[in-house]
Amino acid sequence: MDSKAIKDRATRVLDAAKVDRILLANTNSEDPNFVYITDLIGGLFEGNFLLIKKDSITLFTSPLEYELAREQLGTRIGIVNLDSQKKVEMLVKEIKGRSVGINGNFLPYNSYMRIRKRMKMRKVVDASTAFEKAREVKGILEISRIRKANRITKLAIADVQKRLKVGMTEKEAAMMFENRILELGADGTSFDSIVCFGRNAALPHHSPDSTKLRYGDMVLMDVGVRISNYCSDVTRTMIFGNDKKRIRDYERKQRIIDIVREAQAAAIAAIKPGILGEKPHMIAQSIIDNADNGRYKGTFMHALGHSIGIEVHDGSGRFLSPGSKLMLREGMVSSVEPGIYIPGFGGARIEDDVVVTRNGAIIL
Ligand code: GLY
Ligand code: MN
Ligand code: MN
Repeated sequence: MDSKAIKDRATRVLDAAKVDRILLANTNSEDPNFVYITDLIGGLFEGNFLLIKKDSITLFTSPLEYELAREQLGTRIGIVNLDSQKKVEMLVKEIKGRSVGINGNFLPYNSYMRIRKRMKMRKVVDASTAFEKAREVKGILEISRIRKANRITKLAIADVQKRLKVGMTEKEAAMMFENRILELGADGTSFDSIVCFGRNAALPHHSPDSTKLRYGDMVLMDVGVRISNYCSDVTRTMIFGNDKKRIRDYERKQRIIDIVREAQAAAIAAIKPGILGEKPHMIAQSIIDNADNGRYKGTFMHALGHSIGIEVHDGSGRFLSPGSKLMLREGMVSSVEPGIYIPGFGGARIEDDVVVTRNGAIIL
């Protein structure tokens, strides 16, 4: 990201939060907004601070990360190595007695109290909504990273599906996926992989365990990767095995998958700038609720989609969901993931990430 892009992001957030400085404080993990402004890739940046002002952005880092930051940032962001008390005082001086924006969605209460005590701000403003709004619409670079993450995810899922064998455990399949994405160039997973065999497919957030694959099982994989700080989130459901006659309840399993696919296609077709987030959800839900004389009514029990970007669930959470009054805009990226879940039997979810364009949604 060049200096202008960094400055544009910072200005947008300062203006929206109506403050003249923002302090982002990492804990033992990175504040996603710290990542959004710096675009630093790799490293831990534990306990680092980012001071955002109208005319300058300064990273207060530690000797552990100083070289890494210098290599990546050059002169685009000021860097102060917090290697002496004097440098810490520089930061305190910038904050003391001022009105300062923080990220209330990230900073734990105890860290916040420590910072307040040490830096004695005059007033603290929660800038989290300003960041959320700024991050809602993605730029070309962000979309290209999410697209690449999606491409690798889909390739790796297809590879794992081809290599499935009777007796293999869910954990083994998850491990296979996680190894394959690294070979394909991903930086890591974007969330804990979900792999479900058979009846476990009825549990939307099942963690892979030692369940063994049986012929004819439904196999649901909900997985994602990170590329240069950006996430993918993709789900595929299949029936394991080709010999329909040997598969118990084959017709019903296939029907469930087909209904979910139909619901997803209709929802994606409805997505365009200017509509409310609730609309695609209601379309998918009504297809599932009305299929086969209401046999599957109520089995789709989560939101159709969430924003995706630096975080796999980017933003406030209400996106393509019942009652969402969020107006869709060009450049927004969302998952579209209808599902049917039948306890004790199994289930299906199909999930793709789409970008909203002037001409409708494009699957990444
Ligand atoms: N992977 C969790 C979700 O689809 O939101
Ligand atoms: Mn998912
Ligand atoms: Mn998702």
